[in-house]
Amino acid sequence: MSQFLSYLLSLFFFFFFINSLGTNSSPLCLQQNCGNVTIRYPFWVYDESAYDQQYYCGYPGFGVRCQDGEAVLRLSGDRNYHVKDIDYSNYTGTLTLVDTDATTNQKCPRPRQNFSLETLPVNYSSMDLNLSFYYNCISYPPTVPFIPCLNISSNRSYVFVENHETEGFESFDWSKNCEEKVVVPVRHILTEINIVYLIARFGEAMNDGFVLDWGRVEDCVTCEDSEGLCGYNATAKEYLCFCKDLSVRSNSCKGTLPWSISRVKNLCYIS
Ligand SMILES: *[C@@H]1O[C@H](CO)[C@@H](O)[C@H](O)[C@H]1NC(C)=O
Ligand SMILES: *[C@@H]1O[C@H](CO)[C@@H](O)[C@H](O)[C@H]1NC(C)=O
Ligand SMILES: *[C@@H]1O[C@H](CO)[C@@H](O)[C@H](O)[C@H]1NC(C)=O
Ligand SMILES: *[C@@H]1O[C@H](CO)[C@@H](O)[C@H](O)[C@H]1NC(C)=O
Ligand SMILES: *[C@@H]1O[C@H](CO)[C@@H](O)[C@H](O)[C@H]1NC(C)=O
Ligand SMILES: *[C@@H]1O[C@H](CO)[C@@H](O)[C@H](O)[C@H]1NC(C)=O
Ligand SMILES: *[C@@H]1O[C@H](CO)[C@@H](O)[C@H](O)[C@H]1NC(C)=O
Ligand SMILES: *[C@@H]1O[C@H](CO)[C@@H](O)[C@H](O)[C@H]1NC(C)=O
Repeated sequence: MSQFLSYLLSLFFFFFFINSLGTNSSPLCLQQNCGNVTIRYPFWVYDESAYDQQYYCGYPGFGVRCQDGEAVLRLSGDRNYHVKDIDYSNYTGTLTLVDTDATTNQKCPRPRQNFSLETLPVNYSSMDLNLSFYYNCISYPPTVPFIPCLNISSNRSYVFVENHETEGFESFDWSKNCEEKVVVPVRHILTEINIVYLIARFGEAMNDGFVLDWGRVEDCVTCEDSEGLCGYNATAKEYLCFCKDLSVRSNSCKGTLPWSISRVKNLCYIS
């Protein structure tokens, strides 16, 4: 069969597949830029104004909103994280997020919520470390430096590298004496865990963001190893494997015909 015919056929099947998912939006999972961030498989653009979302374009949870040129990832509980960078250069890609609560031009950055990976198919990068914030402590060892801009009447607030809270004050229970504890990751740019240094630099560190490895999603590995492309069936909530013979499997393309995958790739996986 001629290249051209096979191309047409690929297109036909692709559109057919998209229709079978029952979507009205553009079937092309085209690469898009949002500010400085390139969004492509396994990330996809979550378009708030669209009636349907292109869930089939990438991994669940990786729908990135583009709001006024700023890429935003929304996690459960409406927690928004600014997507500073998505690095596709390695197969174990990285994602750099910034907690929007704590940063945007605030004189006194104050993370309000714990960061948690939840069901995102990512791991913490080895570049990260955790900071523990303790807010509104009513009792405290008097010599421990506190965050000056969070000093409210006699309450004090503190920041530590996680698990270094008690150094020198082994018997002091911060959780018991403070109103709230919040734990957030930052990139390991803080070269010292000295508290005075930390108080001066934590805002900068939070603005710099933290790094997550998205790697290859477990369920997707067998598909990708069989030269398929992963997609997602939002109705069935299961991974799909787009195969070279243009069939759509649930797991692997083993045993399918090696055929014109590059056409589908051109549509869904532009690099
Ligand atoms: C894009 O990158 C430039 C240069 O690194 C930077 O000044 C700018 O703030 C970035 N824009 C966004 C939306 O992150
Ligand atoms: C890509 O991965 C290799 C090996 O894991 C590593 O040495 C290299 O620094 C990585 N490159 C980037 C841009 O992260
Ligand atoms: C930071 O905290 C998270 C959640 O508790 C944990 O999974 C992760 O391993 C911690 N990172 C470090 C570097 O301790
Ligand atoms: C913290 O607040 C107390 C009580 O309002 C005040 O006496 C103290 O000077 C403040 N300390 C700093 C560093 O702002
Ligand atoms: C001080 O902290 C306590 C709890 O630790 C809280 O109940 C109180 O409202 C705080 N005071 C102010 C002025 O924020
Ligand atoms: C954050 O996580 C810690 C445990 O690491 C927990 O003690 C604390 O209550 C959590 N804070 C919030 C605001 O949920
Ligand atoms: C996360 O780490 C686990 C254990 O090392 C690994 O099996 C998994 O593939 C990693 N996931 C990602 C997305 O990198
Ligand atoms: C997606 O899942 C639905 C519900 O299980 C099913 O009817 C449909 O055929 C699936 N689509 C594909 C392309 O597998």
